[in-house]
Amino acid sequence: MNYLAPSILAADFCELGSQLDIIEQSEVPYIHVDVMDGMFVPSISFGMPVLECVRTRTKRFLDVHMMVQSPERYVDEFMRLGADGITIHVEACDCVHETLAHIKSLGGKCGIAINPETPVEQAFPYLEEVDMVLVMTVRPGFGGQSYIRSCLDKIKGVRSEISKRGLPVDVEIDGGVRLGNLKENLDAGANIIVTGSAIFKGDIQQNIDDFYNIMNEKK
Ligand code: DX5
Ligand code: ZN
Repeated sequence: MNYLAPSILAADFCELGSQLDIIEQSEVPYIHVDVMDGMFVPSISFGMPVLECVRTRTKRFLDVHMMVQSPERYVDEFMRLGADGITIHVEACDCVHETLAHIKSLGGKCGIAINPETPVEQAFPYLEEVDMVLVMTVRPGFGGQSYIRSCLDKIKGVRSEISKRGLPVDVEIDGGVRLGNLKENLDAGANIIVTGSAIFKGDIQQNIDDFYNIMNEKK
């Protein structure tokens, strides 16, 4: 099953509530919440207060992407504030197994993220523990970047390993995904599609419909 996960990083923060309302009326099951600390990535985006507010406005699955150094410090707080899933970067955490287990112990879904330059094999030790692998298709830290095509082989590689092991693990992609490159990413094995600017810039409902027209063809 393919899912769309709009990234609110690309939303108009002066209109975030009304933009979330549009998503609430759509078939979109996930909302991607990009938390950036200015250490693991150059940018600072938002944190607990925004997550707490977003939680009151939507029932959608809050898919928190922690672009944060040592994310284990924040798991309890983010779960308490309403995260449904937390994805940590393999490059940012010295206790990945423990942190994934802790997220699950609090009732959350857990994911492991790998940057474009990180070999896909670095996600393999965690495949039996995670609900999803997030393959970054841009350098983390900014929305609106161009898709890095070399990541396509990494999507194929992780999907093939998951299939070989017969695991129920989702493959999420994140960054630079547009209508024009959507089909090849789905064909490569991605099934949770994070996209920000392609949804929030322009007519949000129409953008969602355009994505689902392609995603539903590729059930
Ligand atoms: C980048 C974030 C992505 C980004 C996606 O560090 O993890 O989620 O916001 O935005 P677009 O789709 O505009 O590249
Ligand atoms: Zn993200």
